[in-house]
Amino acid sequence: MKSTNQSLKPLTTKINDAGNLEIGGCDLISLAEKYGTPLYVLDEETIRNICKDYKNAFKSYPKTKMMYASKALCTMAVSAIAANEGFGFDVVSSGEIYTVYKAGVDMSKVLFNGNNKSFDELTLAIELGVGRISVDNFFELSLLNEIAKSHNKVVDILLRITPGIECHTHEYIQTGHLDSKFGFDLTQIDDAVELILNDYTNLKLHGLHAHIGSQIFETLIYGDEIEILVKELARLDEKFNIKLNEINVGGGLGVKYTNSDVPPSTYEIADIIIKRLKECIEKYGIEPPTLFLEPGRSIISTAGVTLYTLGSSKQVPKGKKYFAVDGGMADNARPSMYRAEYFAQVANKPDYELAQTVTIAGRFCESGDILINNITLPELEEGDILCVYNTGAYNYSMASNYNRVQKPAMVLVNNSQSDIIIKRETLEDLISLDVIPDRLKNK
Ligand SMILES: Cc1ncc(COP(=O)(O)O)c(C=O)c1O
Repeated sequence: MKSTNQSLKPLTTKINDAGNLEIGGCDLISLAEKYGTPLYVLDEETIRNICKDYKNAFKSYPKTKMMYASKALCTMAVSAIAANEGFGFDVVSSGEIYTVYKAGVDMSKVLFNGNNKSFDELTLAIELGVGRISVDNFFELSLLNEIAKSHNKVVDILLRITPGIECHTHEYIQTGHLDSKFGFDLTQIDDAVELILNDYTNLKLHGLHAHIGSQIFETLIYGDEIEILVKELARLDEKFNIKLNEINVGGGLGVKYTNSDVPPSTYEIADIIIKRLKECIEKYGIEPPTLFLEPGRSIISTAGVTLYTLGSSKQVPKGKKYFAVDGGMADNARPSMYRAEYFAQVANKPDYELAQTVTIAGRFCESGDILINNITLPELEEGDILCVYNTGAYNYSMASNYNRVQKPAMVLVNNSQSDIIIKRETLEDLISLDVIPDRLKNK
């Protein structure tokens, strides 16, 4: 069965009677006029659909708990939608903890991850009642135990492990291979468990956590990851007589950025994971553990598009034809960071004949700020609105104010209604944290 992450465009995308692209029943040209560009547009129906795809895919293993990896896109409105779909949250900073908290999320369904959580972040997590902390290394075990002791609490934890699995994705988004900055090496787990059982009595260990990478198109490696996690639970029980009953396989399922991408569906990975989990439960003789998943990209990427206005253009003699848009690497860092590829259409000319191959350049002062290399589009004019697909994940969340440019607004569309969920930054916002020391002021 197909799932929403396999779609290139938000599910509600169509060409309307005015001949423009529309999403969530909203004409994209009207949205660009009303809210300005660049503009992130997020389709609520697409988000809810992928959440349902995950829940349906895993319903034959009732002990599955879905978490949304906030790092893909963390806003209060998105948190409210994911919570409403019954998801918990994977968070990685005090900013993400605070956002989900303020969105009214049940904090017992939140898991705090990260390879260098600070004293203040761990303290906030404990004070706000975050449900699980996935401890990444020995330093953090000791620090967290101290903070828990000073709060007179026992904190529920998982151990993040490096399963030694290499997935075929960009090197920067692989995380499960042995030489990774994340998690305990398999050979270090016993020492960590011994410390928890004997010394760190303010920590209660519930299970193991791993994450092998992002934008993954392979399916069988999830089965291998399950086997490593279950085998470790059984081995630790045998050695330390502890019943750990939680495994977290992380996120990573890929999405379709371009026509040549063919990511697996939620149903395919669920089949692999559940089948292997059941086999391993038998093989290693353990009680069925609670299975946590924490997808980010596959939940939110497809739902998002970014609208840009075309401005200047340039034909390099005997070279490329460039069209520049009013955004770029500061609102979408992925092309310059990972050479990520995107697909786009002209929102006011979606059914025009394709006429030329052009390169879409960003407006930022770096030659590497190219949004899309070589895309075939219709004849273009200044003022056309370009709709870049699949920008819901790791775009706003990685956005910067490079060149002191304001970050774009974000609107949520659904049933022909559009609502601002992130306001466009103003020039005043940009300088709001600046301070000029008195001695520098012109008197
Ligand atoms: C620990 C952990 N969990 C979940 C995710 C989400 O991954 P993705 O957005 O690929 O689903 C990440 C992303 O890198 C991660 O590091």
